[in-house]
Amino acid sequence: MTPAGSNRRRAGQGRADRQNTPAGPRRAPAPAPAPVGLSAADLAWARAAAASLSSARLDDDDDWAAGDSAGDRDSLTDVPGGVRLQKVLAGAGVGSRRYCEELIGAGRVDVDGEIVRRFGARVDPQHQIIRVDGKRIPAREDLVYVALNKPAGVLTTMSDSRGRPTMADLLGDTAERLFHVGRLDYDTEGLMLLTNDGELAHRLAHPRFGVPKTYLAEVSGPVPRDLGRQLITGIELEDGVASADRFRVVERLGARALVEITLHEGRKHIVKRMLAAVGHPVSRLVRTQVGPVALGSLRPGTTRRLSTKEVGELYAAVGL
Ligand code: URA
Repeated sequence: MTPAGSNRRRAGQGRADRQNTPAGPRRAPAPAPAPVGLSAADLAWARAAAASLSSARLDDDDDWAAGDSAGDRDSLTDVPGGVRLQKVLAGAGVGSRRYCEELIGAGRVDVDGEIVRRFGARVDPQHQIIRVDGKRIPAREDLVYVALNKPAGVLTTMSDSRGRPTMADLLGDTAERLFHVGRLDYDTEGLMLLTNDGELAHRLAHPRFGVPKTYLAEVSGPVPRDLGRQLITGIELEDGVASADRFRVVERLGARALVEITLHEGRKHIVKRMLAAVGHPVSRLVRTQVGPVALGSLRPGTTRRLSTKEVGELYAAVGL
């Protein structure tokens, strides 16, 4: 238990506490990522987010709820030098501080699995897991989550001995280091997710978690009516059976057709191999969705930050 008054005193002292003995349960360290850079805009955003969170940590307690006392506290939400829960929620983009206080008061926020209803609760966003309505929020200021629309003719690596364009050319040469979640072929376009959250990246790419991915493919036509049934039932490939979760014909274009296929496979060239195996080779392939994240109107070669909601849904998709 920490008395309220001693927490108030701790604004400056908390920094040292955090540097030397970060409190709260820890996550296992993430595996080392293949590093990539961020665009200048994303880096600026990450810095602004970090600055706003660290200033939130250092300001005085001006909004302890009436009646908030040492007796109300528990070990989870008494993190020395921690940040007020509503500030963490607001900083993560959940909503205004007022709205976040309402969420807390309504018992919709939990910290490491325990509902916290006190506005003055102090938490450690670096090490504690905070959820709203059971959905985890991206509370750690050092983690970034980016969507890139990869154009055709770009490698999903950061360097190439043959001098071909890579994602590094699109992401900019910055100090920020990110994992790219899986790969797309050199000639495939569309959604790539990038993050420095190693655990999330690992799970999103791991077949065990079966995260669905959706592709638009231009194929040779005409496409028979039962093509979807064949693909969903399963296609025999040289490395085993592969099946689609969903399939539909988007447009029939005479000798060509535009089809949409969703699958939770991660094998190399899987969409091209499946469609070629049923007699409809792919001439153009675009990934439009990864789990809950859609490519939307993101222009080719550009990036955007994922929203709090999208990151929460990605966590949920892989059981984090
Ligand atoms: N399937 C493919 O065939 N290529 C990709 O790039 C992704 C999935």
